[in-house]
Amino acid sequence: MPELRTNYMGLILRNPLVVSPSPLCDNLDNIKKMEEYGASAVVLHSLFEEQITLLSHELDSNLTQGSESFAEAITYFPEVGDFRMGPESYLEHINKAKNTVSIPVIGSLNGISKGGWVEYAKKMEEAGADAVELNIYFIPSDPNMTDEYLTNVYIELIKAVRAEIKIPLAVKIGPYFTSLPYVAKKFADAGADALVFFNRFYQPDFDLDRLEVTPHINLSTSSTLLLRLRWVAILYGRLPVDFAITGGVHTAKDVVKSMMAGAKVAMMTSALLKYGLPHLSTVLKQLTQWMEEHEYESIEIMQGSMSQKSVTEPSAFERANYMHALTKYIAGS
Ligand SMILES: Cc1cc2nc3c(=O)[nH]c(=O)nc-3n(C[C@H](O)[C@H](O)[C@H](O)COP(=O)(O)O)c2cc1C
Repeated sequence: MPELRTNYMGLILRNPLVVSPSPLCDNLDNIKKMEEYGASAVVLHSLFEEQITLLSHELDSNLTQGSESFAEAITYFPEVGDFRMGPESYLEHINKAKNTVSIPVIGSLNGISKGGWVEYAKKMEEAGADAVELNIYFIPSDPNMTDEYLTNVYIELIKAVRAEIKIPLAVKIGPYFTSLPYVAKKFADAGADALVFFNRFYQPDFDLDRLEVTPHINLSTSSTLLLRLRWVAILYGRLPVDFAITGGVHTAKDVVKSMMAGAKVAMMTSALLKYGLPHLSTVLKQLTQWMEEHEYESIEIMQGSMSQKSVTEPSAFERANYMHALTKYIAGS
């Protein structure tokens, strides 16, 4: 029987299959089932900066009745009651989840600005979270905002959250940076123990009947994984951080590829939304079977074995591969 254990930011996990944040994780019965079906850890649905600041504004406006302050700024956000859980219930949820399962429970904090809301990282730790995942989901739209400024926004936020907690800190980011290796190094220096590749940016669509911009969530497919594989493979062994892959992990082979690129864990959401929670045990069974058939004794041996540092053709991850792919396609092969 192959050894599936993996060490993610110092958390020893029984296998590399982790459930990533989604509303599935709001429900304690689901979390229990995730553990039963084999998930090695669960990252809870995010607590959003806006949720925390909205609540404090709401409290504030209750104290200063009739005040119009903040009114316009908060029009664009959901109402406090629209969130499934308020900040306090979120902390209770962490606590209940910890009392329900024995796998690690990771709290998720989602925001972009340095401010009082980062205290919730500490509150998550106090509520029993085994680690915090900070999701920095920022879409720059100001043409005057420089790369340097933006990178500093991330760095300052990572430092601020790091200062709040002693438990491991993972940072989930998107792929759209001018130099991903550079910012990844900066984020590691700022105190991230792991980088989670990548946020999927949900693309707004146009409703042509109402002439409105509408939110649009597409579930991923295995092809979503490729972007993650490339970047983890390039950065593996070059930075003092662990990597997690989120986006496009649907099958056992997707988990194998993630490990070979150099990730410590492969996270799953879309596949669970599509096929249900028992899919976790199907993937884990197939993973064990694949490892037996290919004579891999452990997940650790596999980790990084296809990274840029390990493959015989490192240029396969760079421009040479691009030229090769195009030429090959045009030649009709
Ligand atoms: C309905 C839905 C809700 C999500 N909510 C969160 C969230 O609260 N915080 C977060 O970091 N990611 C959230 N995600 C992103 C997932 O955790 C995951 O990173 C992404 O879907 C890519 O993984 P996948 O291809 O396995 O779905 C959500 C995804 C979906 C589909």
